[in-house]
Amino acid sequence: MKIYIKTYGCQMNERDSEAVGALFTASGHTLTDNENSADVLLFNTCSVRDAAERKAKGKIGYMKKLKLRRPELIIGVMGCMAQRLGEQLLAELPHLDFVLGTGQIHQAVDAVEKIAAERKRFSNTIEAPEEIDMLGAHGSNSWSAQIAITRGCNRFCSYCIVPYVRGREMSRSLDSIMDEAKMLVDSGVKELLLLGQNVAAYGLNGDIRPPASGYSPFAELLEALNELPGLERIRYTSPYVSYFNDRLIAALAKCSKVCHNIHLPLQSGSDRILKAMNRQYTADSYREKVAQLREAIPDLTFSTDVIVGFPGEEESDFLLTRELMEEVGFEQAFIFKYSPRPGAKSALLANTVSEEEKLRRNNILLDDLERRIGKRIAGLVGSEQEILCEGVSARNSARWTGRTGTNFVVHFEPDTTVKPGDIRKVKVTRAGSVSLFGELI
Ligand code: 5AD
Ligand code: SF4
Repeated sequence: MKIYIKTYGCQMNERDSEAVGALFTASGHTLTDNENSADVLLFNTCSVRDAAERKAKGKIGYMKKLKLRRPELIIGVMGCMAQRLGEQLLAELPHLDFVLGTGQIHQAVDAVEKIAAERKRFSNTIEAPEEIDMLGAHGSNSWSAQIAITRGCNRFCSYCIVPYVRGREMSRSLDSIMDEAKMLVDSGVKELLLLGQNVAAYGLNGDIRPPASGYSPFAELLEALNELPGLERIRYTSPYVSYFNDRLIAALAKCSKVCHNIHLPLQSGSDRILKAMNRQYTADSYREKVAQLREAIPDLTFSTDVIVGFPGEEESDFLLTRELMEEVGFEQAFIFKYSPRPGAKSALLANTVSEEEKLRRNNILLDDLERRIGKRIAGLVGSEQEILCEGVSARNSARWTGRTGTNFVVHFEPDTTVKPGDIRKVKVTRAGSVSLFGELI
């Protein structure tokens, strides 16, 4: 059968879709980008904001007309929205054949083959923690690959649906991750992106207390991966700020393959709002951690996630966030308008900030960011940078793009020898608004 998979949401979901796709090809099916000629349509969904759910539901609803034309078409929904709504989705969308929750996506091939044989609709959202290692399959060879090192989340930030839809936090064994990494590097992978809802909690057995001084299983994992011959770069996303202890910071500074870029979700710069969000740090402790990290790794760059319009967020709270963002000088940031998620604690609070006001705060932070990135990037003109070459630029086929370890994108004219995954040096010749231009050295 020809399988079409559409993914919504985060990188973990992208990774899950890749693994599910690989399970289908291993079972003799083929993958397609064309929904009109596919035999099976799979939607791997997200619940993190209402907009993500509405988008997926709209798309799945629209597929009804394909099913009317071709009743044999199989349509399935997987992932976080599938987990959250389960049977309710089957009731709402009569043309849907099956629903697989986040703990069941490794069953996707079986689900499709069963529907093809029996034509019986079903929903399965049972949590299956023992299946944690069953999604190690990868798609076609590339220079870059993602590995899920933890699954689920135990932090229960008050706005967040993830602990409810992805279940309790679990870490894979070091051996299993190393085997997957070796297999990938043997197949030509140069860059690994380690994924988890809180990667720095790796190996802590779900304990929500940040590790004591001198102890960090995540640091041990990075050190083991750093020794893999043939691997050039290690990235990870996302860590929770409180888990960067002395042991982890020392490992980050020492491991030459670990990139000097951290996605460090801030969410808010106001202690009052951080507390209401059940974030276990203050603006000052976040500041302090950034300072410690910068001291150990001077060229470190930071990106972040921020939510505007959390219940009770006053203009004064928002300004604290704005100031802290300016002070840290994030090189990248993702700004989200607060969206109440049924089931998460904050959904019980009155949604006090109007949508217009959320949009205003959102736009102010985006304007700040644009100005800051422009300045930051201009400051890199004339410097030499080491980049990992990614391939032909999406915007101009005469150019290639590459990325620095600090996560700046550099466009350059290729020479005849350059291959995707190569590490090369460039001299930065000019700055665009968000990316750089350079010449190979
Ligand atoms: N509303 C808005 N943004 C949210 N995020 C998580 N839950 C919500 C919500 N209910 C944001 C957080 C998180 C990112 C992945 O999505 O900033 O870091
Ligand atoms: Fe990823 Fe969270 Fe969305 Fe699930 S709800 S897909 S974990 S962002």
